Amino acid sequence: MELQKTINRENIETLVRSFYYKAMDDEQIGHYFTLELGEDITNYEWVKHIDILIDFWAKVFLDDPLYNSDPYGPHFTIVDLKKEDFQQWIKLFTQSAQEIYVPELVKQFKTKAIFYSEQFIERLKINPECETLFWNA
Ligand code: HEM
Repeated sequence: MELQKTINRENIETLVRSFYYKAMDDEQIGHYFTLELGEDITNYEWVKHIDILIDFWAKVFLDDPLYNSDPYGPHFTIVDLKKEDFQQWIKLFTQSAQEIYVPELVKQFKTKAIFYSEQFIERLKINPECETLFWNA
């Protein structure tokens, strides 16, 4: 596939799906997702979650108003979520972005991923000294 030079809802969907295929199989962070959503990415819970995440990124990059919820809430109930898990999240998300977008856009996605991870870490009261750690993910 030719690398995308603009962000649209269609390529956001490709990104979100690509990311979750990696994430659910990942040794470090896969269990957080499969415990909550199940092992089958085509089940109802996953389909709903993927739709929410497409709306979330469409709001971040396209100002699409469909997502109007709180991204932080569901993470409070995840037991033992560590800053290293966010580093791994960013690494997989960046890999997926690299498969789809030109480098300038990959950087924009990575910047947002780091921004939200830092917010999560602050709100979840996880040790926040992680800026360098994240950019090296
Ligand atoms: C290791 C890190 C992370 C883990 C394990 C994780 C896991 C989860 C889980 C289990 C849910 C709830 C699914 C459900 O029951 O519907 C969720 C929701 C969500 N996550 Fe994460 N997440 C992580 C990092 C992130 C990051 C960095 C972002 C943003 C850049 C993000 C954005 C969201 C959003 C927008 C939702 C939906 C919230 C809503 O219901 O409105 N997550 N995540």
